Amino acid sequence: MCCRILLMMSCVLVLLAGTDRGEAQSRSFRMSVPDTLVASGFLKHLLPRFSLKNSIRIELVAADAEAELQLSAVNIGRPVFSGLGETWFLETRDTGNDLVVRFTDWLASDVGRRTIETFKTETGAVFVAAVAEAEDTGPIEVTGDIVQGEKLAVIHCGRCHMVNEATRLSTIGSSPSFAVMRSFADWQARFEAFFALNPHPSFTIIDGVTEPFDEARPPPMVPVELTLTDLEAILAFVTQIPPADLGAPIQYQ
Ligand code: HEC
Repeated sequence: MCCRILLMMSCVLVLLAGTDRGEAQSRSFRMSVPDTLVASGFLKHLLPRFSLKNSIRIELVAADAEAELQLSAVNIGRPVFSGLGETWFLETRDTGNDLVVRFTDWLASDVGRRTIETFKTETGAVFVAAVAEAEDTGPIEVTGDIVQGEKLAVIHCGRCHMVNEATRLSTIGSSPSFAVMRSFADWQARFEAFFALNPHPSFTIIDGVTEPFDEARPPPMVPVELTLTDLEAILAFVTQIPPADLGAPIQYQ
C-alpha cells in the first residue's frame, strides 16, 4: 500500500518536472517521509507549489531510505509544522546541497508557511507552521506570462469571476471578482491553491497535480483544465491587478 502511494507521488512529481522550463532536468533531491504524512495528501498540496516556483523536483522515498533531507516526527533537526497529532521536523543530511536549502528556506518563508496552513480536508485545516524567524521573501516574483495569463483567466475563470472589465457582465454574482480577491492579504496563497479550494475541485483539472474525478461524481460543467505553466501565467496576471479599494465609497456611474 505504502509503496503504491509513494509510486503515485513520484509519478506526480515526474510529471511536474516535465513542465519545468528547460534548465531543470537534474535539479532534484530526495526527501524521506513517513507513510502517514504521504497518506494525508498534504505533500501533494505542498510540493507542487514549491516545484512550480523553484523548478526543483523533490523525490519522495520511504522513511528508512537514504535521502538528502529527512521529514519525520522524530525530534531531530528543526520543527517545521505540526498536525496529525505530531510536530514534524526536517533534518538536512546533505548540508552542502543548495536545493535542499532552497526548500527549507521556502518552508520558513511567508509563502511557505501560508501554503502549509491552506491545506484543508473535509474537517478543516490540518497543519500549522512552526514558529520560525521567517525571512522576508521580498516582492513577489513574477515569472509567468502576464498576457497569456489574462487570456487564460478570461476563458477559464471568467465563466464565474469578474476577471477584468470585459468579463463584468458575463459572470455569476456569487463569485468574488479578481480585484476583490487581490485585495486580501493572503491572495497569493489562495490563487496558488484555488484548485484545492471549493467550489473548484469538482470541476478543475491541473495536469499532474489533481486526482482524476470520481467516476460516480462527474464534473457538473465543462471542466477547467490547466497546466502548472498556465496557472503560473494566471498568477502573474493577478499579481499586477490593482487591488479593489474596499474602503472607498460606492461610486455611481
Ligand atoms: C463555476 C464557477 C467558477 C469558476 C469557473 C472558477 N471559480 Fe473561483 N470561485 C467560484 C466561487 C463561487 C467562489 C467563492 C467560494 C466561496 O466564497 O466559498 C470562488 C472562489 C475563488 C477563490 C477564493 C478561494 C478561497 O477559498 O479563498 C479563488 C482564489 C478563485 N476562486 C480562483 C479561481 C481561478 C484562478 C479560476 C480560473 C482558473 C476560477 N476561480 C474559476 C467559482 C468559480
